[in-house]
Amino acid sequence: MPMSRRHLILGSAAAGSLASLGTPGAAAGQTASGPAAAGGASLRHRADAKGLLFGTAVGPLLDRDRAYRDAVVADCNAVVPEYEMKWKEVAPAPGFYDFAASDRRFAFARDHGMEFRGHTLVWNDGMPDWFANHATRLNVEEMLAAHIGTVVGRYAGRVHSWDVVNEPLDLSGNGEGGWRRGTLLTLMGQEYVAASFRIAAALDPRARLVLNEFGTLQAGPEAEAKRTAVLRLLERLKAAGVPVHAFGIQGHIATAGRDAIDEAAVARFCAELAGMGLEVMLTELDVSDQFAPADVPARDAAVADAYRRVLSVVLDCPATTAVLTWGLSDRNTWLAEHRARADGLPVRPLLYDTEMRRKPAWDAVAAALDAAAPRPRRAG
Ligand code: XIL
Repeated sequence: MPMSRRHLILGSAAAGSLASLGTPGAAAGQTASGPAAAGGASLRHRADAKGLLFGTAVGPLLDRDRAYRDAVVADCNAVVPEYEMKWKEVAPAPGFYDFAASDRRFAFARDHGMEFRGHTLVWNDGMPDWFANHATRLNVEEMLAAHIGTVVGRYAGRVHSWDVVNEPLDLSGNGEGGWRRGTLLTLMGQEYVAASFRIAAALDPRARLVLNEFGTLQAGPEAEAKRTAVLRLLERLKAAGVPVHAFGIQGHIATAGRDAIDEAAVARFCAELAGMGLEVMLTELDVSDQFAPADVPARDAAVADAYRRVLSVVLDCPATTAVLTWGLSDRNTWLAEHRARADGLPVRPLLYDTEMRRKPAWDAVAAALDAAAPRPRRAG
């Protein structure tokens, strides 16, 4: 993404105004716990300076929360809809599409000179209820092509990247030969993955096409098996000439416990992905504090440390081009439900607290972007 005059202005203005006015919503220089370490420049400014994408998942909060919106505008050069672009959201009934919400997110990105990531075209957990009743072996490929055609076609040429297929693998034992069960797998077999990429590439040859998965950053045999299965799948897709350009590491990690990261394994994994000529994107980064101390300064420090560790290893890989968090503020995080704390305390997994004050996690991301090697500008 070329450093447009607008970015330069925004960057310097953001740096200037933020420095003079403090960060959006934050009392001057204050953060949730202690002085602002990383100074005034926004995360967007720092990412732009390295040719990296930094952004976050967005949704309806953008429409009704000015402080949150200002923070997204200040800190992000990319956004992705958290759920408003999923199949069941845009096609609540057969043959009927409602793009009002995803159009709003797309317009927000365009209006703020940001890249837009599409999430997600094909995801077993995101399929509309009506699909299983309507799809048959005879019409399923047509239905898949029609859906991808409608969604990708609508934004063609203006999207940075698509999570074409999300979470196809399931090594938990509930899967089918290591694959997540679902109507597409039942009716098309594993071929639904290759078919989805080919259809998307034909409709938008400019977009980066991404295979997105979770559970590839952690320690232990389960994560190791997941990394291996992902690499094998990508090798098969590449060998078959399937247009897959990047692997999306979701990045839902924790400060401790089974979702803590294994930096050495992640470094190896990223090197393998780079070796295949793939881009690496951290697509849904957040740090669960489920097992962190109740004390807020200690908890925020543990969360910040996890951001520092994952970003230092993933950004160390030259193939990494993008980092997106799954929300920016503790005001709005799926982890409040999915990784609630046993003590009932509100979770604090993101970069801003519920008062929209920067947290040490914000500083950790700022420092990681500053420490990252510059990436070559993306052509076109
Ligand atoms: C989650 C959203 O955060 C929730 O708001 C929604 O109810 C369910 O989906 N992996 C993904 C994301 O790829 O799309 C999921 O997002 C979180 C896990």
